Amino acid sequence: MSGFSIDWLDLREDADRRARDPGLRQQAMQWLQAAPLATGKPLVVDLGAGTGSTLRALTAADSLPVAWRLVDHDLVLLAEAQGRHGSTQRVETCAADLSRIELLPLAGARLVTASALFDLVSEGFIEALAKVLRSQCEENPVGVYAALNYDGSTHWAPEHPMDGVVLQAFNQDQRQDKGFGPALGPEAGDAMGRQFIQAGFAVTYASSPWVLDGADQALVAELITGIAGAVAGSPGVDTGALEEWVRFRQSKAASGTCTVGHTDLLATPA
Ligand SMILES: C[S@@+](CC[C@H](N)C(=O)[O-])C[C@H]1O[C@@H](n2cnc3c(N)ncnc32)[C@H](O)[C@@H]1O
Repeated sequence: MSGFSIDWLDLREDADRRARDPGLRQQAMQWLQAAPLATGKPLVVDLGAGTGSTLRALTAADSLPVAWRLVDHDLVLLAEAQGRHGSTQRVETCAADLSRIELLPLAGARLVTASALFDLVSEGFIEALAKVLRSQCEENPVGVYAALNYDGSTHWAPEHPMDGVVLQAFNQDQRQDKGFGPALGPEAGDAMGRQFIQAGFAVTYASSPWVLDGADQALVAELITGIAGAVAGSPGVDTGALEEWVRFRQSKAASGTCTVGHTDLLATPA
């Protein structure tokens, strides 16, 4: 199990969908549309697919016929994705540990996608993935659309004196190993750009922040709980002060706002 529940993925999906940069999503669809006709439906391989939120985001944007290969190590999430989409889309699910890059089912992909994934991985993982995909381009040019990579920024309104301390501790926690070596956390967008350019891709970035208000109260409340759980016991985070921060933040979840920065990235062979 990965620790990403269906409930949590469902809770964040609407904010994710609103946050995705529409221009970059459109460019990703254009890359798919430009696939050679002889190869049939272009294949999208979605890494860390969860219940299929990338499929839903791209399908909602365009009705282009596409074949999907959803890859995840969580069988419960893959079964949910299959149940939601198997009867209406061409979807194949594939259980795999992404950290074994050499075993990933990337063959034939026109586009490799991911959302909310690359801040979990290490720079070594990105470097290896970029090289594998670049070598694949000799037979079939393949692009990468990676959305919603956390960028380390979170702004709350109204402010609280502990916001900065909590954010710093949270960003530190984001760098802990999630099974791929030291996680990139807030560095994910920069590291991806660096590694894909070095491997011979042209890279375009766009900002894709979560912009949350009272309508997202349930998500904000979970976010506060999650952040507090991640930073509790961190150096420099006083337990009493953190409890007060949580009380304050939860009391403003319906009336305040929260912006969480992300980056979307599109890489295509240069
Ligand atoms: C933050 S969730 C994002 C899910 C989905 N892309 C979305 O946006 O809703 C990260 C996903 O990566 C998967 N994952 C994490 N580590 C993995 C690994 N080593 N191998 C395969 N999947 C992994 C998790 O199971 C989870 O579905």
